[in-house]
Amino acid sequence: PVVLLLHGANLGILGERQPEVYGSATLEDHVARARRAADAHGLDLEDLQSNHEGDLVDAVLAARGRCTAVIVNPGAFTHYAWSLHDALAAFDGIVVELHLSNPASREAWRHASVVAPVADGTVAGFGGLGYQLAVDAVAGLLEQR
Ligand code: DQA
Repeated sequence: PVVLLLHGANLGILGERQPEVYGSATLEDHVARARRAADAHGLDLEDLQSNHEGDLVDAVLAARGRCTAVIVNPGAFTHYAWSLHDALAAFDGIVVELHLSNPASREAWRHASVVAPVADGTVAGFGGLGYQLAVDAVAGLLEQR
């Protein structure tokens, strides 16, 4: 089974970006952590980061019928990218929304997620640990099926 790990805007500079909010680990570190968890569960992990909403839409559409799950940290796209919502709505596998920070404890504009209504669940606020938890969640859901 293939799990697609997607990252949206401004997540390519993790490590340098507001480390007091997002920590000092790089995107590479987080992907490596997710990959270790995927390996442990016998899952294949593919990943993509883009600052362009349409790239994520394309990736979700290309995942249809090919990937078992999408784990997505959309960055700020979380809060307004309805095209990503619609692409995920058309995806038939597991969807996990993932955030390093806890948007619910931050500015009001971060409280709404357009991805949450089309996600099986959300992992937020656990920093890099969330990458492991999100993959564990996918594996757990697959085991239950
Ligand atoms: C984020 C939270 C978003 O509100 C923000 O725009 C990001 C990162 C997170 O991982 O905590 O870019 O998705």
